[in-house]
Amino acid sequence: MEHNRIYLDNAATTRVDERVVETMIPLFRQGFGNASSLHHFGTLAKEVLENSRATLAQCVGADPDEIFFTSGGTESNNWALKGIARANRHNGKHIIVSAIEHDCVLNTCKWLADEGFYITYLPVDTDGIVDLARLKEVINPKTILVSVMHANNEIGTIQPVEEIGRICRSRNIPFHSDACQSFGKIPVGVHDANIGLLTINAHKIYGPKGIGALYIRKGINLDPLLHGGGQESGMRSTTENIPAIAGFAKAAELCMEEMNDEATRLRELRKKLEDYLFSTFDNAYINGHPDQRLPGHLSFSFHGFEGETIRLLLHLDESGIAVSAGSACSSNDKSHSASHVLQAIGLNPFEARGGIRVSMGRFTTAKDLEVFMNKLGHSFNSLTPIFSGSSIFTQ
Ligand SMILES: Cc1ncc(COP(=O)(O)O)c(C=O)c1O
Repeated sequence: MEHNRIYLDNAATTRVDERVVETMIPLFRQGFGNASSLHHFGTLAKEVLENSRATLAQCVGADPDEIFFTSGGTESNNWALKGIARANRHNGKHIIVSAIEHDCVLNTCKWLADEGFYITYLPVDTDGIVDLARLKEVINPKTILVSVMHANNEIGTIQPVEEIGRICRSRNIPFHSDACQSFGKIPVGVHDANIGLLTINAHKIYGPKGIGALYIRKGINLDPLLHGGGQESGMRSTTENIPAIAGFAKAAELCMEEMNDEATRLRELRKKLEDYLFSTFDNAYINGHPDQRLPGHLSFSFHGFEGETIRLLLHLDESGIAVSAGSACSSNDKSHSASHVLQAIGLNPFEARGGIRVSMGRFTTAKDLEVFMNKLGHSFNSLTPIFSGSSIFTQ
């Protein structure tokens, strides 16, 4: 990374761990075979493929033949929704998702609605937790899937997936959960939560981009998206990206080994940041659940100054700190629209442009956080006269 720059945007993506890089490099040089080939090179590649599958299966409590590699979280989510919809459309056309899903779920739902499916968007409370009573009410005999993410990318809130799973089990409906933000950071077990389909990816856990997986419980009926040479048991054709797959498995393995200590360390850093915000700014508030949230993730806003968040983030970037806005900071969002997640937890469209997301990770040190807090204070102070003509920075 560029010297002296501080990266606090690990929910967007992470730096690849050196141990993962070391695992991948030989697979570009010597282990380049096609896993479908019958000769020596193919056999070696196949072995890496199957060992990686077994590792990932173990990480989520699945059997290896229930893990299917994909190109990432977006593809896994598209596949779960479209695959279930297509395979089960004769049983019903109703799908339930939470209102705070990632765009790759919400935009897939829009597409499915155009195809004639009915989508119910489950509301969440002011902490971002889905309304379970409403879930029970809206499930009906035509419901073919419930999809609720494990942890939210913008506000970090963790959903009660065990309870959602219990409700789905009692109605015999498959439950899909997008665990891109939680996998590797907190325990994710498919059996405890009765999860039938689980989305995971590598680039949020210090692995490479462009690789993910979909867990599909045995017996669940879904159609493939990609047809071709029959890889992944005929469910997802294309030549497997062996270095990325091995890197994914290594990254996951490291997260499992280090999860407890790392979560404790990140929770302490997050607590420091929260204490700083509340003791320094009269108008700071937290978005999302106070405790039921990802260890290193904090979303906050400054009341009254939500419209100036982008300016604050650019100022911080100039001083070498990378943080993110809830969604408005995405360079794909040309209109800087208000966050659908912040609106779903009750903020108005003005406030919903104001989320600041700090996501710490494996390479974040206590010193990094100190520097960030210091610079946040200075950035805020230098911008408040522009905002309001008066400073509310109290230190
Ligand atoms: C919750 C969630 N789901 C899905 C994705 C998409 O994953 P990918 O970038 O691997 O397609 C992301 C990443 O931004 C995410 O945070």
